[in-house]
Amino acid sequence: MTTRFIILTLVLLSTFLVIFGQIVPQSEPNYDENKVPKFELPDPLTTFAGKKIKTPGKWIKERRPELLAFFSENVYGKVPCKIPVHQWEVVEQSDHALDGKACRKQVDLIFKKDNHALRFTILMYLPKEIEKAPLFLGYNFYGNHTITNDPNVLISPAWTRNNESLGIVNHQLTEASRGVRANRWPVEKIIHAGYGLATIFYCEVDPDRDDFSDGIHPFCYVEDQQIPAADEWGAISAWAWGLSRAMDYFEQDKDVDASKVIVFGHSRLGKTALWAGAQDERFSAVISNNSGCGGAALSKRRFGETIARINTAFPHWFCKNFNKYNDNEDALPVDQHELIALIAPRPVYVASAEKDLWADPRGEFLAAYFATPVYELFGKKGISSQEMPPVNQPIHNTVAYHIRSGEHDVTDFDWEQYIKWANKQLLNK
Ligand code: GCU
Repeated sequence: MTTRFIILTLVLLSTFLVIFGQIVPQSEPNYDENKVPKFELPDPLTTFAGKKIKTPGKWIKERRPELLAFFSENVYGKVPCKIPVHQWEVVEQSDHALDGKACRKQVDLIFKKDNHALRFTILMYLPKEIEKAPLFLGYNFYGNHTITNDPNVLISPAWTRNNESLGIVNHQLTEASRGVRANRWPVEKIIHAGYGLATIFYCEVDPDRDDFSDGIHPFCYVEDQQIPAADEWGAISAWAWGLSRAMDYFEQDKDVDASKVIVFGHSRLGKTALWAGAQDERFSAVISNNSGCGGAALSKRRFGETIARINTAFPHWFCKNFNKYNDNEDALPVDQHELIALIAPRPVYVASAEKDLWADPRGEFLAAYFATPVYELFGKKGISSQEMPPVNQPIHNTVAYHIRSGEHDVTDFDWEQYIKWANKQLLNK
C-alpha cells in the first residue's frame, strides 16, 4: 500500500462512519441555536429572475409553476410518466364497523402497464350518519391492520423492514402487529367528529428501501433503465403519487366528499403529504406532523438533520439532483417555506414536538411563518409573529402551527387540534 493510499483511506474513514449498514456523516448534528449559520432565505414573492409578485394571478401563473418545477426536478424528482388507475376493486366492506358507528371499506387500486402490475389497498372508515363525508387521508408505517384492533382489516403482503417488536419477520407483516399503532390513529374520535379516515400502507406503493427495481418506479422505465434519472422521482415523490391516485378514487366514491380531503402525514410521510398537497390542488388541506428535514423544516438552518445526512442515510427518498445541496445549502435557490407556500391558499397545518430536535421545531415554525406572505396575498391569515407560540398553544389560522410537549410521534393532542382546525377551515364550524 502506498502512503498516499493509506492517507486517502484514513481521510475517508474520518469523514464517514458506517453505522448499522448506513453511512452517516461523522460530525455531530447541531442542536445549538447559537450555532445556526447565517443564511439568506429566498423570497417566495420574488421570481428567480428577480421580479416581484404582487397579485394572486401572477403567483399562480408565474411564481408557483417555477417553484413547483424546481422542487420537482431538484428535490423530490418528477413522475416521468402517467400511470392511471387501471381498475379498483372493493375487496371488503361492512356497515357494522366500530360497533355499528361506521362503515368500513377496503378498496384495492390496481395498476398495469406492459409487464408491470401493482396494487395497494385503501382502508376507509366512514361515519354512518353523513352522506358524503369529509376525509382525512394518510399513509401508515406498518400496515393498515396496525392502525386499529379491528380483526377484519386485511394484512398487506408488501415488503417491509424487519421489526421483531412489531411482529415483522422475514420482511412480512403478521397478525402479531394488529393494532400496534392504534395509539396514532384515534379512529373513533375522527368518526365521532364527522370525518372519515382513509389510510394506505406506504410500502405497497413503493417499499422503503434503496432499491428502484420494486414498487411503482419500474412502470416508467424506458428501455434498459434501472434507476430513475437524476431529476426523476425518489420514494417520497412515488408515495405522493400514490396519494393522488387515492384522490382519483375518492372523486368517484359517492360516500366521500372529494372537495374536503385533508392529506395528513407523520415524519417521512409528513414530507410526503406536503409534496402531495403542493402538487395536487384537489387536496383541500394539508397536515405535516413532525416532518422535519425535507418536509416543513428550513434546510438552510442546518439544525438537527441536514440535507447531507438525509441523502446519505436515505439515498432513495429524494431525487439524485438533491445531492448537489449536501453541505451546500447556500446554493439552494429555494427553501421549505416555499414548499408550504405552494399549498396556498389552501389551509396547511405544521406541527412540531418539543423534544423532536432532529426535525428542528423552530425551523418548521419559521417555514410556516415565511410562507405566510403568499397566504396574505390571497387575503388569508397565516403566522404573523416570528416568536414561537408556547408549547401546547396552537395557532389555528389558514396557516396553522403548534408545538406540543413530548417526542416525535402522533398523539391524541395532535389529532384533537387537526379536527378543531379542519372544522373551522373546511366546515366553518
Ligand atoms: C428518520 C429520518 C427523518 C424521518 C424519520 C421518519 O429519523 O431521519 O427524516 O422523518 O426517520 O420518517 O420516521
